[in-house]
Amino acid sequence: MHKMSIRTTQVKSAASVRSAAVIGSGVMGAGIAAHLANAGMRVVLLDVVPRTLTEEEERKGLTLNDPKVRNRLAAGAIANMARSQPAPLYDSASASRIRPGNLTDDIALLGDTDWIVEAVVERFDVKREVLAAIESARRPGTLVTTNTSGLSVAAMAEGRSKEFREHFAATHFFNPPRYMKLVEIVPTADTGAEVTELLAELCVKRLGKGVVIARDTPNFIANRIGTYGMLVTLEDTIRYGLTVEEADALTGPAMGRPKTATFRMLDLVGLDTLLHVVDNVRERSEDDAERAIFARPRLLEELVAAGRLGEKSGSGFYRKRKDPDGRSRIESLRLGTLEYGPQVRISSPVIDAAKAAKGAAAKAKALLAANPKDCYAQFAWSTVKRTLLYAAAQVGVIAETVVDIDRAMKWGFNWELGPFELWDAIGVEKSVARMKEEGESIPDWVEKRLAEGHSSFYQAAELKRFYAVPGGFAEENQEADVISLSALKGAGRTVLGTQGASLIDIGDDVVCLEFHSQNNAIGGEILSAIRQSVAEVSRNWRGLVLANEGRNFCVGANLMLLLMEAQAGEWDEVEDIIRFFQDSMLRLKRLDRPVVAAPHRMTLGGGVEACLPADVILLSPETYFGLVETGVGLIPAGGGCKEAAIMAAERAGLSAAGVRSGVTPGDLQPHLNALFETIAMAKTSTSGHDAAKLGLLRPQDRAIVRQDARIAEAKRLVLELDRAGYSAPVEERVAVAGREGKAVLAMGVQAMRLGGHISKHDALIAGKLAHVLAGGDVRQGAMVSEKYLLDLECEAFLSLCGESKTQERMSHMLSKGKPLRN
Ligand code: NAI
Repeated sequence: MHKMSIRTTQVKSAASVRSAAVIGSGVMGAGIAAHLANAGMRVVLLDVVPRTLTEEEERKGLTLNDPKVRNRLAAGAIANMARSQPAPLYDSASASRIRPGNLTDDIALLGDTDWIVEAVVERFDVKREVLAAIESARRPGTLVTTNTSGLSVAAMAEGRSKEFREHFAATHFFNPPRYMKLVEIVPTADTGAEVTELLAELCVKRLGKGVVIARDTPNFIANRIGTYGMLVTLEDTIRYGLTVEEADALTGPAMGRPKTATFRMLDLVGLDTLLHVVDNVRERSEDDAERAIFARPRLLEELVAAGRLGEKSGSGFYRKRKDPDGRSRIESLRLGTLEYGPQVRISSPVIDAAKAAKGAAAKAKALLAANPKDCYAQFAWSTVKRTLLYAAAQVGVIAETVVDIDRAMKWGFNWELGPFELWDAIGVEKSVARMKEEGESIPDWVEKRLAEGHSSFYQAAELKRFYAVPGGFAEENQEADVISLSALKGAGRTVLGTQGASLIDIGDDVVCLEFHSQNNAIGGEILSAIRQSVAEVSRNWRGLVLANEGRNFCVGANLMLLLMEAQAGEWDEVEDIIRFFQDSMLRLKRLDRPVVAAPHRMTLGGGVEACLPADVILLSPETYFGLVETGVGLIPAGGGCKEAAIMAAERAGLSAAGVRSGVTPGDLQPHLNALFETIAMAKTSTSGHDAAKLGLLRPQDRAIVRQDARIAEAKRLVLELDRAGYSAPVEERVAVAGREGKAVLAMGVQAMRLGGHISKHDALIAGKLAHVLAGGDVRQGAMVSEKYLLDLECEAFLSLCGESKTQERMSHMLSKGKPLRN
C-alpha cells in the first residue's frame, strides 16, 4: 500500500528542504552532492548512461543493461568521495545519504525531491536539454538551480513553463564546494522573489555558505573580476619584464591574496578553462572596450595549443620535475622562450616591507606606497589600479553594490580585502589623483563621490558599517548571526586584555575571550588572560565564550619557552609552566558561570585542553581537533590526560556521578584503549562533524553548521545554560584502570614496537601516556582525584622534556612546522 503523501508541492522554508537531486557527477556535481549530504539532506546523484563497457566490466561479464554499468558515473563519484583530497564529506559515513542513478532510468526520482541542482558540462545545449528533462519529471514547486560558471541563466530557461522559471535560478558554487564560502545566486527576471530568498537562506543556514546575489551577466561577479585581474596581471608581467615568480611574489600574500597568487592559481584553474571564461565574456559582451580586454592572450593560446594546460596536464606556468635522487623540484616557465628553468626565490625591499607589515591593509599600503621608481612597485600599482577601476566600472552592471563585489572576491577568491576595501586602505583620494595623472578615466560615480566630499567607500560607526551608494552611504546588511569581535573591539567593548588575549563584551552580559597571540599558541599571556577572565566573569557576567577570529583557534601550547627551559635543564621552570597551565584550566573548569568553547580550524594540543574545561564545545564544521602532543615528543599535560581518564570512567559508568549497577572496573578498559590510541597516535579530526569519533568529546558537545555563526551560537548556549540555573562542576573522583589497565595498554605498545610500526622513542612516550591514563600504579578500580591525575601528567611530561629526542621533535616543529618522527 502506498503511504499517503502529506507533502505540499511548495517548499516552505530552508529548513523544510530534506532532499535534493544533483545532475552531473563531475568535479562540481560530486562536490555539491557531498556538501548537501554534509547538511543532512538525502541526495540522488544522476549522470548519463555510459555507451561502452570498461575492460573491467567486460571481464566481469556485465552488459550495458546492468544497473552497475548504467549508474557507473554517479556510483564512481560517490566511491571517490572517501578518497578525494581535500575531503568533500565531513564524515565519510554521510556518503550513505547519496544514492547513485542515471538520467534515463531514474529521472522519476526528481518527482520526490525538494531541490534539483544541475551541474553538467558547461554547454548551453546540454544544459537546456537537461532542464527540459528536469521539467518533465519534477513536481511543481520544486526548486531548480544551475551551477553554471557564467552562461546566461535566463536564456537557459527559455522554453520552460512559467512555473518552472519562477522556481529557477543559478546557484554558482565555487570549487571545492565544502571549503569555498561563496555561492553566487543569480535570479532571472522570472525568478520569484521568495524563491531567491529561500535559496539564499538555504545556502547560508543549511550549507554554511556566504551568498552574494549577482546579475545575469557573463561569468557573474567573482569570476568576471578575478579573470580580468589575471588577464591584466599577465599583460603587466610581460610589459614590466617580470618573471612568473616575481609576479606571483607580488600578487599573493603581499597583496592580501592567497599564496597561489596569479600563475599558480592559473595552473590550478586550467589554462583552457580560463580561455573558455574569457571567450564567454567576449562573445556575450556588446561593449568594444570590454571585448578588447577579454581578447585571448597569445601566450595562453600557445600554451594551450602545446597541451600545457596547468596542473591537470602536468605543466603550465610551473611544472614539477623529479631529480635523479628522487626529490621533487619545481620549475617555472620563462616567458620569453617558453622553456622551463629552476624556480627562483624572490626577495626585494618592496616585498620584504609588505611581508613585515601586519594585516592585508598594511601590506597593500607598504607594497603600493613603495618607491614609485621601483619596478616591482610599479607593476603592483598597475595591476591593482586596473583591477580597482574595472571593479568600480562594474557597480550597477554586474553587481548591485560595492559590498557584493567585495564579498564575492573575498569569499570566492580568498582575497583578504575586496577591491573597495583595498581602495579605502590605500586612500581613495590620493590614488585617484595618481590614476588621473597617469591619464586613466575614473568612473563617474567615483568622481562624483569625491566631489561630494566622500573620500572612502566604507564608513564604520559603532558596530555598523556603511557602504557607498549614490549620494552617500547605506548601512551594510550584516550576515545573519555573525558577531564580529574585531568590530566590537573597534567600538571599545574590550573588558580586559593582555598581549595574547582580550576579553570582549559580546552583549547580553556575556563576554568572549579571544586569543590573538602568534598562531594563537598558548603562552603565559593567554593563561594570565584566562585567570583574569575567570575572576572577572565570576564577578560581573552571565557567562563566557571561548572563540576567536584567528586563522586557527589554537595550534597548541607555545613550545619555544618550554624548549629553551628544557635545553637549559631548568626543571623547576618547566614544572612552573605546566602547573600554571593546569591550574588555569582548573580555574576555568570550576568557574561558577557557564563556559562554551567554539573552536574552528586547527585546534590542537593545548587548544583542545583549553576547550575541555568548557561546559559545552561547539565545533565549527572545519575543525581539526586533536591531542597531538606525542608528535612533539610529549603527552598532554594541561589537563588533557586527566580529562581523557575522566571521560573513560564516565563512559564505563564509573565516575563520581555514581557507579552504575553491575559495572565492573574491567569495563573501563575498552574506553581507555580507544582514548589511548587517539592520543598516542596524535589523531586529528578532519571536520567538526567527525571529531566525536576520536572519543575526545562529551555527549553535550556538538558540531554546528555555520562557522561564521559560532560566536553567536555559543553565546546563545551560554544564556540558555545560565537561564536553566547553572552551577559549576564539583571536584571529580573517578575510577582508574590501574596497574592491570596499564599492562594491557603496554602490551599493545610492545606489539607495535615489535612490528616495527613505531620507533623506540614513540614507545617510550606511549608508555608514559599509558601510565598517566591508567592512573599509575594503583589497583584496578581505585578512585583517584583530579589533582592526583594532574600530578601524574606533570611528572611524565617533565621526564619527557629531559629526553634529547623529545627536544629534537620540539625544535623540528618550531623550525619546520611539522612533526619529526625519530
Ligand atoms: P565535469 O566535466 O567534471 O563534469 C561534468 C559532468 O557532466 C560529467 O559528470 C558528465 O558526465 C556530465 N555530462 C556530460 N554530458 C552530459 C549530458 N548530456 N547530460 C547529463 N550530464 C552530462 O565538469 P565540472 O567542472 O563539474 O562542471 C560542471 C558545471 O559546473 C559546469 O557548468 C561548470 O562551468 C560549473 N563550474 C565548475 C567549476 C570548477 O571549478 N570546475 C566551478 C564552478 C562552476
